[in-house]
This record gives sequence, C-alpha cells and structure tokens, in this order.
Amino acid sequence: MEHVLFVCLGNICRSPMAEAMFKQMVADRHLTDQIQVESRATSTEEEGNPPHPGAQKTMRSHGLDPSGMVSQPITAADFDWADVIITMDQSNLRNLNRLAPTRADQEKVHLALETVPGFAGQEIPDPWYSHRFEDTYQSLNAALPGWLDRVTQADQ
Ligand code: 4NP
Repeated sequence: MEHVLFVCLGNICRSPMAEAMFKQMVADRHLTDQIQVESRATSTEEEGNPPHPGAQKTMRSHGLDPSGMVSQPITAADFDWADVIITMDQSNLRNLNRLAPTRADQEKVHLALETVPGFAGQEIPDPWYSHRFEDTYQSLNAALPGWLDRVTQADQ
C-alpha cells in the first residue's frame, strides 16, 4: 500500500482539490486497494472547516464531491503514515521542513509541479486571494498524472 499526502497552508483550497482529484484518478485506474490518499494543513487556522466555496464549486464542476471534507492540521503520525508528501508552494515546503519530526520525513516532501517538465521549483499559488480556483485545478491536473505514475512504479 502506498500512502499519498497532499498538504497546503489551510487545507481548504489546494490540497483538498488535489486529494479529490487524485482519489478519482486512483479509482479510474482501479488502484483503490493499492493507494490511499489524504490531505492536511500546515496551519490550524481553518481546522474543522469544509473546503472554500470556490474550491467546492470547482470540484463539483469537474464531477468531484467535496462533501464531508474538513481541514485537518498535519501531525507527526501523518508524516509517519505518508510515503510521499506533495505540497504547493515554497512557503508550504519551509513549514513542512520545520514541522517534520525526522530527516526521513523531510525527504518525503515534494512540490506538486516537480512532475511537469520545466516546472521544477514552481509553485501552485494560493487561490484564497485570487479566487482563480480553475487555474488551481488545471495546474493540479497537469501535475497529478506524473505523481500517479511515480507512486505506481514505487509500488511494484
Ligand atoms: P489553501 O488556501 O492553503 O490552498 O487551503 C488557504 C486557506 C486559508 C488560508 C490561507 C490559504 N488562511 O490564511 O486561513
């Protein structure tokens, strides 16, 4: 079993969208018994809150169901659970490096766009201010197939 964890600042915009999209991709490839997917926040700011209305609307417009999702701050147990931690921007990377209990946990952390040729080091910006949730979806849609390929190769 591979465990994939998506993380952003609030766990109400980017990482829940990534979780829902990646779960759908895993289901489409009939891999639900091999890959588990979760998402978490680096902050406690939005703890217990559902995805942002704009994120919910964008998820629904692409056939994804945001119901039941709530923001959860990352814990030491989450770092331990995860095989790979996929995050959105440089600020998220710094926060995760600070929060990671061990060096091995730090090494699990990657920027989502790392899988897109020419986009290493690039960020998926926070749509909380811009409200460009469809841009977030399209960036994730470019990055996530590469992550599914990597995870399925790791699982062999
Ligand atoms: P997210 O967006 O990190 O993509 O979930 C944000 C959500 C909440 C806040 C910032 C970004 N906030 O400051 O509470």
